[in-house]
Amino acid sequence: MKVSRRDFFIKTIQGGIILALPGALGPFLESCKNNITGPAGSNLSTVQGTTSGTNVVVSIGSSSPIANTGTAALVNFSNGSVLVDHPSTSVYNALSSICTHQGCQITNFDSGSNQFVCPCHGSRFDLNGNVTQGPAGAPLQKFQTTVSGSQLIIKIG
Ligand code: FES
Repeated sequence: MKVSRRDFFIKTIQGGIILALPGALGPFLESCKNNITGPAGSNLSTVQGTTSGTNVVVSIGSSSPIANTGTAALVNFSNGSVLVDHPSTSVYNALSSICTHQGCQITNFDSGSNQFVCPCHGSRFDLNGNVTQGPAGAPLQKFQTTVSGSQLIIKIG
């Protein structure tokens, strides 16, 4: 069978692409290797907060999902949301809900390990927003909180 110069050229190019593909995708595949551990969906309770100037105000009264110690919730407000956890009496942490890896919203909480879990690629953050498991490499932004009676005031600005 005679192979034309054109066919030879096309087959050579195709072979080169096939051989080069694993090398080109290698870094991408490597970065995704651990990216299948995020739990699907959301298990965090949501609470509606109200914006007041640069603050978000949320109820922490007895009916609030974050009234008891050891709880956490996603607090939604008019133009965003924050994660709030309540590790001990009168102590509340407010953290950005935007994962520092690729910007997914964090919607899961592992109450066994007290860690927030990103649903996209499984990054984990402790109650202060520090990374405990990547791929995220930076902590969640933390916001100042103040308890005033049955309200939690989160300074977002
Ligand atoms: S966006 Fe990738 S782990 Fe959160």
